[in-house]
Amino acid sequence: MVGTHWGDEGKGRIVDYLSHSADVVVRAQGGNNAGHTVMVGDKKYVFHLIPSGVLFPQKVCILGDGMVIDPASFVEETRFLEKEGVSFSGRLFVSEKAHIVMPYHRLLDRLYEGLRGKEKIGTTGRGIGPAYEDKVARWGIRVVDLFHPDIFAAKLKPILEYKNRILKELFSNPPLSYEGILEEYLQYAQYLKPYVRDTSFLLYTAWQERKRIIIEGAQGTMLDLDHGTYPFVTSSYPVASGALLGAGLGPCPDIEVMGVCKAYTSRVGEGPFPTELKDDVGVYLRERGGEYGATTGRPRRCGWLDGVVLKYAVRVNNITSLVLTKLDVLQGLSKIRWCYAYEVEGRILEEFPMDPSLWPLCRPLYKEFEGWSESISSVRSYKDLPRSAQNFVESIEDFLGIPVVLLSVGPRRNDTIVRREIW
Ligand code: GDP
Ligand code: IMO
Ligand code: MG
Repeated sequence: MVGTHWGDEGKGRIVDYLSHSADVVVRAQGGNNAGHTVMVGDKKYVFHLIPSGVLFPQKVCILGDGMVIDPASFVEETRFLEKEGVSFSGRLFVSEKAHIVMPYHRLLDRLYEGLRGKEKIGTTGRGIGPAYEDKVARWGIRVVDLFHPDIFAAKLKPILEYKNRILKELFSNPPLSYEGILEEYLQYAQYLKPYVRDTSFLLYTAWQERKRIIIEGAQGTMLDLDHGTYPFVTSSYPVASGALLGAGLGPCPDIEVMGVCKAYTSRVGEGPFPTELKDDVGVYLRERGGEYGATTGRPRRCGWLDGVVLKYAVRVNNITSLVLTKLDVLQGLSKIRWCYAYEVEGRILEEFPMDPSLWPLCRPLYKEFEGWSESISSVRSYKDLPRSAQNFVESIEDFLGIPVVLLSVGPRRNDTIVRREIW
């Protein structure tokens, strides 16, 4: 399950919906920069690290190898679930290979953003970039390291000396305490221990037993470190191949890649967004769609659905079926649009340009449709949607050559229209 744009497409609620008939749900990359909202009745859950399948009893939930895990966030999320009466003991597992987000990662995330000034990325401030940076530089602390106080202490020593020098010399920031971090993280180790497993092995076994596995994407295609709008991206691989990499699975033959796409587009943080609307329609989409960050509360930038990005996402993820979410949000607009190409200085671009100098020049070209005024939130059958909504959906399918198999028309679990059975 991958996000087709810049995240927040509604992945969490779709994963929750499909988890009902799955066996295992796994997060493969990213960390608590993700915010996945699931609404069951009037109860709202926002997941940051824990897979969105956790609300169904008996489903196995895995935090996979490619993740970066902030243990404080893990404690908070699991305690919240306990308080809500959601039992997860014996079915929630954390990879021993996942990397740990340390206090200096969170601190440096914010300080680096300050240093960039106007060129800032607009990160979630969760320490994600600095944690992946250390992983690649082979300075990272992994979950398994926490269980051996001597190994952990020996690893932490030189890293912290280095980080403290950066903090002091570059940012005039007071140093972080070695003993303090050791003590705090050894306590987390006790808390984490019962959950830790070789999750790649668990997944391989589940796959061999022909269990149904959902890999829950986080972020979105355009936030991918390699394939997104670099440098305005996250530091991991939200695309489909990153999902397998981060789960610790090889390319399996019987995979379906589902793209989750919103009926309009949003972005939180900085970076190019050709179809962004800074007018009343943009505000209408934000307010009707409740487009405020599930992790940071920041208002999300909104605009018409970007079909150029969507077509690119279909290609780089090899998406085989599409889920269109939040169709209900478009209700009440007299005209609705989606963008099929950009015009740049008289030239037509049908592919998303990766040359940053072209981003400010992209003028979106739109297909336009009549809107509809009636509420569609209680519609459960595709044929009962207004004709104009069907035209909108079918024009996207024709453009991409892949089917929209599932639609959502409200935030609650059952506000869905199934056009083709998934499993
Ligand atoms: P994710 O990060 O991809 O899981 O998406 P988020 O949870 O960050 O953002 C999606 C937001 O849209 C949440 O507030 C959901 O409750 C809400 N939502 C999801 N699907 C629908 C829908 O079909 N209609 C409406 N109105 N809201 C939806
Ligand atoms: P979900 O899974 C939307 C964005 C941040 C910023 C950039 C880098 O809920 O769709 P980071 O903290 O990762 O270094 O920030 O990526 N970002 C997201 N935007 N949804 C997310 O996750 C995001 N995770 C990161 O806003 O622009
Ligand atoms: Mg989100």
